[in-house]
Amino acid sequence: MLRVPSAMLRVPSAMLRAAFPLIRASSPELLERLSGGGGLELRPRFISGPEEDALLRDIEPGLRRRHYQRDHWDQAIHGYREIEKSHWSEQSESVLQRLRDVAFPPGVPQLSMVHVLDLEKTGFIKAHVDSVKFCGDTIAGLCLLSGCVMRLLSEDSDVDQVDLLLQRHTAYILRGEARYRFSHQILPDEQSLFGGEKVPRERRISIICRNLPNEPGSGPD
Ligand code: OGA
Ligand code: MN
Repeated sequence: MLRVPSAMLRVPSAMLRAAFPLIRASSPELLERLSGGGGLELRPRFISGPEEDALLRDIEPGLRRRHYQRDHWDQAIHGYREIEKSHWSEQSESVLQRLRDVAFPPGVPQLSMVHVLDLEKTGFIKAHVDSVKFCGDTIAGLCLLSGCVMRLLSEDSDVDQVDLLLQRHTAYILRGEARYRFSHQILPDEQSLFGGEKVPRERRISIICRNLPNEPGSGPD
């Protein structure tokens, strides 16, 4: 029988880093935990250029009717406009269904309204945890038009931190610990670095599907 020294049973951190080039965690243990059962999932190149175009055709008319919100310094999001949308073209619908299929188990009640958030080049999202009153255990987003860095900060520890490189066309999923025990934020252009490399921010649109909270009485009335 092959005997393996016990130290080799642990994944060396360089290997772990190489396996997850789009995730930078403050420790190998944290990376292993979140990318294992901890609820963090990135799918680069989840949509194609033509699929992005189809989504943009559906959402641009609604977005254009709104102004970017810039002046509310107490708010979590700066330099943004947003819509909620339930009707999509057939091509967009099939992209959204693909996202839902990978994010949610069959039969999980989802919000029928899809959230579309348009951040201007100078826009950013401060650290927050999505309200448990309105959002269930899974957040699934698509990234359009620009890359960015999403930062997760532990609610329980001062040192546990994870940066995600969200490239254009990526899908990301936050569940469980990553959704509830970490805040998430989108860094402003001047702080937009991943492993020391600049990730230039342009206008960025995210399309986000969520499920309904499942605790009785916690949903919107
Ligand atoms: C949000 C949010 C992330 C994104 O709207 O609550 O965190 O990818 N958005 O835009
Ligand atoms: Mn959020």
